[in-house]
Amino acid sequence: MRQYDRYLITSALPYANGPLHIGHLAGAYLSADIYARFRRMMGEDVVFVCGSDEHGAAITLRAAKDGKTPKEIVDHYHGLFKETFDRIGVSFDIYHRTSADLHHKTSQEFFTNLYEKGEFEVIESEQYYDEEQKQFLADRYISGTCPKCGNEEAYGDQCENCGSTLSPTELINPKSKISGGTPVLKKTTHWYLPLNKYEAWLKKWIAEGNKDDQQLHDPAEWKNHVLGQCNSWLDNGLHPRSMTRDLPWGVDVPHHIEGHEGKKLYVWMDAPIGYISATKQWAEEKGKDWEPYWKDEDTALIHFIGKDNIVFHCLIFPSILNAHGDYILPVNVPANQFVNLEGDKLSTSKNWAVWVHEYLDDLPGKEDELRYCMIKNMPETKDSEFTWKSYQEANNSELVNNLANFVNRVIVLTNKYYEGAVPEFDEGQDLVGPDDPMDAAYHDSELLRLFDDLHQVGDYIRQYEFRNALQKLMEISSKGNQILQANEPWKKQKTNPEEVPVVMNLALQYVAALGTAIKPFLPFTSDKISALLNLPKVDDHSGFLSLMDALAEGEHPLKSGHIIGKPSHLFSRIDDSVIEAQVEKLKANAHKKEEATAAVSNPVKEEVTFDDFTKMDIRTATIIEASKVKKADKLLQIKLDLGFETRTVVSGIAQYYKPEDIIGQQVSLLANLAPRKIRGVESKGMILMAENSDGKLVFVAPSEASFENGSGIR
Ligand code: 2FM
Ligand code: ZN
Repeated sequence: MRQYDRYLITSALPYANGPLHIGHLAGAYLSADIYARFRRMMGEDVVFVCGSDEHGAAITLRAAKDGKTPKEIVDHYHGLFKETFDRIGVSFDIYHRTSADLHHKTSQEFFTNLYEKGEFEVIESEQYYDEEQKQFLADRYISGTCPKCGNEEAYGDQCENCGSTLSPTELINPKSKISGGTPVLKKTTHWYLPLNKYEAWLKKWIAEGNKDDQQLHDPAEWKNHVLGQCNSWLDNGLHPRSMTRDLPWGVDVPHHIEGHEGKKLYVWMDAPIGYISATKQWAEEKGKDWEPYWKDEDTALIHFIGKDNIVFHCLIFPSILNAHGDYILPVNVPANQFVNLEGDKLSTSKNWAVWVHEYLDDLPGKEDELRYCMIKNMPETKDSEFTWKSYQEANNSELVNNLANFVNRVIVLTNKYYEGAVPEFDEGQDLVGPDDPMDAAYHDSELLRLFDDLHQVGDYIRQYEFRNALQKLMEISSKGNQILQANEPWKKQKTNPEEVPVVMNLALQYVAALGTAIKPFLPFTSDKISALLNLPKVDDHSGFLSLMDALAEGEHPLKSGHIIGKPSHLFSRIDDSVIEAQVEKLKANAHKKEEATAAVSNPVKEEVTFDDFTKMDIRTATIIEASKVKKADKLLQIKLDLGFETRTVVSGIAQYYKPEDIIGQQVSLLANLAPRKIRGVESKGMILMAENSDGKLVFVAPSEASFENGSGIR
């Protein structure tokens, strides 16, 4: 198998409709960044492209919600994305945007090419239309109940609960997202890509395209979950898919095409072409030719995405590229799955997220701590989980206790024993014996082992196994610590100082190697290690390759006599208080959002008559006994004195009140509610509660103390 001549690496273009969160990072950005950095550092020709996805309903709906224009929204988030990616060290060669003229032109050329080849079918169909807003309702403009799982908030293109792909007409009880009204069906004409026509070709390409020995191919197989999704789509049969929309915002259908008025390209037609326009813009800025990156079979095109984008990158975009005919296809689409946060799904709408720009503001200088934790928990093959506790744990016990500790000990001891000079050792030194394992031969064999380990790191990266690669690096650091621990230079320096240089020299080689090999993962830490070693920053364009070449030649990455820098800690412990504050913030933000949503989504209920009201018998009562209901975290079993009788009710207030604290509390009770069995306990009536501003349920009690129990409330 030949090597590829160049790599074109893409990360999914994020919708410019809300800030980046840690799920984005772990999905399509850190994985791509590690891969791109590694390939560059191996001396390969790499272009790593991304940009903001600025079209589609995601943007216009957000604009409508915020009372802004779509342009204001995309400008704001594009700026924030660019800055955030830069701050967290994602090394795009270009971060472009789909509102750019170059992109509009590129995607229109693509559309025209397919149109002129007769690849589209023109289909008239009935689609949902909001009569009040005079707009067709495609994709996210419409919501309703998912026919597959019953989720009432499914979108017209997808149900986020069960992951099904939907079309608006499949929704039960469809509602317009703009007016809230029930839409009507209206005729409209669009250009469709007959995916059914490409089905056989796609099947073959997915099954074999990557394994054909005649061609170049990625050494890594496609991930199982990616193939699984593709095959399930293919097994269900593909249908023509509309490549245009009736929308006011997006890329215009080229004006020379009849019937273009009011029509825009479907966002999933234009967005992936954004990878091409980004490459063109990069080439223009660098004085390069973009075409080989997209048209030469010796290019490896790799799409890094999250699992919700699989169908678009593995079936639809390849069909578009294939229909065009001049373009290469991806050699791999190593999609990641999702990250959950503190036991729940990450959710922008519920504000249940760790926003990357806020993290960087709250924990300045801790970019690599977050990168480390997200790479360690990357959802490579299945969903994973981020908790602040696990972040603290990873920092304190791995980054501080292992990596920082090792590097620090080596820098401190070198300064102490040799005034910072990398010690020379006697290459002929032969101390082999049961008590003295350290000699020149040991130094050689340990460097050889280091070479093998680093080779393994590279292999893992080539296989898109970034968690394993990072773990291997941490094992190298542990090995460094073991070398110190086993040889105890701090003791030998007093008894046999002539044996110490070989130990310290070896440990220094380990530090230097780690400083290089860790760069794709923790670039800020790599720079710090370089500073500690008094070396220039590791070369982003060949650093890994030079290190491997040196080790293969038996050379030492750090030359004897080189004067290193002064010690300073790479990482510091993170206290409980920091973690608690972040957990608090997360909960408070989510709660604020809930309240805001509740205020709009909790309008006054339908009118009732006075007669309806008088049917309810509400009485004062006093709690005389209370206990927790077994195996039900939220429930209390409460005995009440109503004056004329005692009653038992089950109430969902255990989160807010301890049983012993509510004895004697007077309450209002809906006394004639039909009895219900809850967890085996018969509940007769309901205690009235109000929700206060902290989301806590409080008793609705008569304010005058000692009201007679059983008094009616009207
Ligand atoms: O899911 C998303 O956030 C989309 N904006 C990804 C687009 S990827 C590409 F095709 F542009
Ligand atoms: Zn569903």
